[in-house]
Amino acid sequence: MEKSNSVFLALAISLMLVSPSISDVKSDAKPSEIKSDVANYRLPRNLIPMHYDVTIFTDVKEPEFKFDGIVTIHLICIQQTKDLVLHMNNLTLSQDTITRLVKHGIANPSKELTPVHPVSHNYDTENEIYTATFETPFITNQEYTVEIPFNGVLNEGLSGFYRSSYTNRATNDTEWLATTQFESIDARRAFPCFDEPAMKSTFTISLGHPKHLNSISNMPLETSMDIPNKPDWVLNVFQKSVPMSTYLVAFIISNFTYRESKPSKEFSDVKFRTWARKEVIDQVDFAAEAGPEFLNFFERYFNIRYPLPKQDMVAIPDFSAGAMENWGLITYRESSLLYDNVRSSIHNEYSIANTVAHELAHQWFGNLVTMKWWTDLWLNEGFATYMAAQALNDKYNKPGSRHSWKILDGEALSNILLIFPLDSLSSSHPVSVPIGNPSEISQIFDAISYRKGSFLIRMMNSFLSPKVFQQGVSNYLDKYSYGNAEQDDLWSSLTEAGHRAKILPKDLTVKKIMDSWTLQTGYPVVDVVREYGNKKNTIKFNQKRFLALPDLKRSDSTQCWWIPLTFTSSNEKLSSSKPIWLPCDQDNSALSAHDQHDIVANDELDLNAGLKDNDWLIINRDMNALIRVNYDDKNWDMIINQLNANHTNIPTLNRVQVIMDVMEFSKLNILKYSKAFDLMSYIHKESEYLPWRSALNTLYSMDNLLKRTGPTYDYFKTYIRNLLAAQFSTQPEIRSSLEGYEERLHKTQLYSAACHFGLPECVERVQEEYKSWKSAKSVDNYIIPADMMYLTYCEHIKTAPLEEWNFLYKRYLTIDTPSRKSTSFVL
Ligand SMILES: *[C@@H]1O[C@H](CO)[C@@H](O)[C@H](O)[C@H]1NC(C)=O
Ligand SMILES: *[C@@H]1O[C@H](CO)[C@@H](O)[C@H](O)[C@H]1NC(C)=O
Ligand SMILES: *[C@@H]1O[C@H](CO)[C@@H](O)[C@H](O)[C@H]1NC(C)=O
Ligand SMILES: *[C@@H]1O[C@H](CO)[C@@H](O)[C@H](O)[C@H]1NC(C)=O
Ligand SMILES: [Zn+2]
Repeated sequence: MEKSNSVFLALAISLMLVSPSISDVKSDAKPSEIKSDVANYRLPRNLIPMHYDVTIFTDVKEPEFKFDGIVTIHLICIQQTKDLVLHMNNLTLSQDTITRLVKHGIANPSKELTPVHPVSHNYDTENEIYTATFETPFITNQEYTVEIPFNGVLNEGLSGFYRSSYTNRATNDTEWLATTQFESIDARRAFPCFDEPAMKSTFTISLGHPKHLNSISNMPLETSMDIPNKPDWVLNVFQKSVPMSTYLVAFIISNFTYRESKPSKEFSDVKFRTWARKEVIDQVDFAAEAGPEFLNFFERYFNIRYPLPKQDMVAIPDFSAGAMENWGLITYRESSLLYDNVRSSIHNEYSIANTVAHELAHQWFGNLVTMKWWTDLWLNEGFATYMAAQALNDKYNKPGSRHSWKILDGEALSNILLIFPLDSLSSSHPVSVPIGNPSEISQIFDAISYRKGSFLIRMMNSFLSPKVFQQGVSNYLDKYSYGNAEQDDLWSSLTEAGHRAKILPKDLTVKKIMDSWTLQTGYPVVDVVREYGNKKNTIKFNQKRFLALPDLKRSDSTQCWWIPLTFTSSNEKLSSSKPIWLPCDQDNSALSAHDQHDIVANDELDLNAGLKDNDWLIINRDMNALIRVNYDDKNWDMIINQLNANHTNIPTLNRVQVIMDVMEFSKLNILKYSKAFDLMSYIHKESEYLPWRSALNTLYSMDNLLKRTGPTYDYFKTYIRNLLAAQFSTQPEIRSSLEGYEERLHKTQLYSAACHFGLPECVERVQEEYKSWKSAKSVDNYIIPADMMYLTYCEHIKTAPLEEWNFLYKRYLTIDTPSRKSTSFVL
């Protein structure tokens, strides 16, 4: 660790200059043997890395794209072994150039004063594990350095150390850059390493490259030096990192430029820069402004300072994921970072802000505290997804302001719209799936992991209360800083906070609750049956897994969940923020008498005077739990009557929920469609964005079913036009702008629906706008409002002749606004 950079660098440079002949390890590698060891893709724990010095020389040039490197790993031996076992993939190295040196504090100094080389080596292709065997063993408690020269090729595969390119629009030249993407298991493609998340270590990265390019890495630049005999080259040495996992290491060599964010009062010491190729550098301003705001929000929320001196964010032309949270050097796909003030829509703004916040949340949840193994990746991703919504809410939801935007409610709906259909299939999977070989990761991490993960975290936030939840998370991050943890560690921090605040029943743990949600597939439907005309006001509950296609062969009847029940009703006595638990155990005797009033016994709850016979009742206030709820007929009718009389008495998210549930139950013949349409009929009076979004979602799916039914479809369209007409008439013209975010989203949503279902007024307005644009003196100067661009072009092209299609496509190719290009037309 203490090896000075200058000594090391001299070595590295000389190595590069003499360019030793390095034999291809593949030529003498033995085929991998199946070891009896079950987890042969896991590294043994005999040797533990403490520090890496990584130096890589890269000439980002066609056609070779080669790099040469040397890594010096400082190790401590935990258990005696002759084998150095580490990860490597698609690199070339030679046993003869690997050296091992005993570090100071030598247990037995006479034994080994000069560097030694391995006597044999082996490469396991399948598991990407390289083993170098030494004649004398590594000795327990002794520190060593091993030095491994290697070389490789910048690949085109978007993982490891790879090359990316773009066209310089001024010259039409292809410009190249070299960049990295290591998560989950591709650090080993850039340098040999112990490539497992729990093997944290510090890193000193040094990058040699031609002078006309610049380089960045996780940490700030320490020194920049000339390279002997390479006058056009520079060697940039970066500061030593904090202890971190290999998958978070990153470096980039490019010709990019950057904008520096204005320092904020709260963290003037974090240098924040946002990078992109020169042509689109004007599009980084939005992210450069939002980034520090989010960083600042997370510092306050987690109550832990951002631990690095700087944060860089970079837009990469070729990038496989949306973005990657490398510590201090976040990489993005261009469309996930670049925002054009005129041509990007509100959806683009949301998605860029959301991605930036997601990656910044990872700097704590993921980077500072990392999962022990990939099994808990869902927690990393679910948490970052959830925290991003919190940060956006802080930025956009200013109660009382015209610009207020209820981000958390919108995010909850977005998530549930994805989870409900996927997770109601018997083929779904639990959020938490044991991962063996990391190669399984990509098959498992999908919307369920991110979105259901996020929704379940939101559920915890609500049953623990935001303050207690925040305290528990902050304690957890503090306790495991620079270390690794697993899901049960978070559960116990949250349980502790919940019990201290007396918000969680004494004998109930977060683990017990959350295991029922994260280890099981699916989500429950709760049947609620009220008994009328009895003084106790008894409510009977029954829970079972909700399946869209009931699987007759498999009995899921034993599945159950710990459900936090919350209520809303026409009777105000019934609203309490503290949930009553619908238990999963049939046997509640384990729970003490003290807790009984927090837990529903025998699936029955007596509300006594809490509810009158003619009060409507809705379970799951604000859609806090991931459940569907079905009611007895009389209660449904009371809900429907209330909606039609005055819907604002029912909270927004509960309107959203009853719409989703009643339509789904009708589809499955659990309720009659007449009930669904009685309920839906209130929507013509609804002026809010989210209930309409929920309604349109179900109507579009019905649209798909009825599309080819001829006259029936016409009736259906007429019906929807009638529902839409009143609200559409309240919407402003295409070119008049709205201030509020939700108003803008609602306008786009209503226009899209109205045009889709053929409301004449909408179709006319859109065609008119298209005509104005097309007949403008210069189509470059006539800008269709960004939120309405997609709709306008698509509505027009639906019926336009081929030459119009060609015209629009050519325009599309000339525009350099990635955020628009990825989702829709930009012209
Ligand atoms: C790396 O992968 C590429 C493409 O699969 C292959 O052509 C090349 O030979 C590999 N190099 C090494 C050193 O394994
Ligand atoms: C670049 O290529 C395009 C398309 O081939 C051409 O129209 C343009 O004039 C070229 N520009 C330069 C600077 O060569
Ligand atoms: C880098 O950018 C500069 C100025 O923008 C340009 O003159 C030069 O040609 C570029 N070179 C490379 C290799 O990208
Ligand atoms: C509907 O209920 C809300 C809230 O109780 C009330 O403010 C509003 O005046 C009612 N509207 C009508 C039309 O009765
Ligand atoms: Zn993430």
